[in-house]
Amino acid sequence: MSKIGVIFDLDGVIVDTAKYHYLAWKSLADHLGFEFTEAHNELLKGVSRVRSLEILLDIGNVQLSEQRKQEILISKNEEYLGYIMKMNADEILPGAEKLLNTLDDLGINYVLGSASKNAELILKQVGLYHRFYGIVDGNAVSKAKPDPEVFLIGAKKLNMPPKSCIVFEDAIAGIEAANIVNMTSVGIGDKDILIEADFNFNSLTEIPEDFFSRFLSEKN
Ligand code: BG6
Ligand code: MG
Repeated sequence: MSKIGVIFDLDGVIVDTAKYHYLAWKSLADHLGFEFTEAHNELLKGVSRVRSLEILLDIGNVQLSEQRKQEILISKNEEYLGYIMKMNADEILPGAEKLLNTLDDLGINYVLGSASKNAELILKQVGLYHRFYGIVDGNAVSKAKPDPEVFLIGAKKLNMPPKSCIVFEDAIAGIEAANIVNMTSVGIGDKDILIEADFNFNSLTEIPEDFFSRFLSEKN
């Protein structure tokens, strides 16, 4: 058995679904009568669905009843699912499949650690579902990132202590969550934003061929 395990965030690491979240949140904001920009959308990356709505309503300075919020969460997700159902393997982010192949070759297990309640569906749409050793998603956790719950459950699935897990994340909250429990954090995206990560790459394509093997030998 390998000495390390890997945990992947989904949105922004394996696939780019932020654009679909944006379209669905934007049509909600349009309906409520305020502007919701792509810059605003950045604030929702890595954030749970419920928290995303709170942030959006703050942006629009809109107050709604709990019941209305519940209705809105359902209709936003329905619109989002409309986009997800059209996804296919072309939307896998560059470098992701190659990285999974490398891990398979090295015998390193990997699981998903995502805030999304749609993670299984998205992975099935792009044809990667069967490749993961386990899935931990928004349905499995009660506390959102930066709470490390999602990654700790992932480590359990991998049967690895947290310090032997490497986490790939594109959101500050995810890097924080990994760091809190001494996992190795790999930031995918802007280095100046993901400054707390142990390693930084602009995209998965930049990960050196020997990234994991070096890691394995360091562990010996
Ligand atoms: C995260 C995304 O992966 O999942 C967030 O980065 C999103 O933007 C969250 O809000 C929850 O997703 P879903 O699919 O459960 O609405
Ligand atoms: Mg993400």
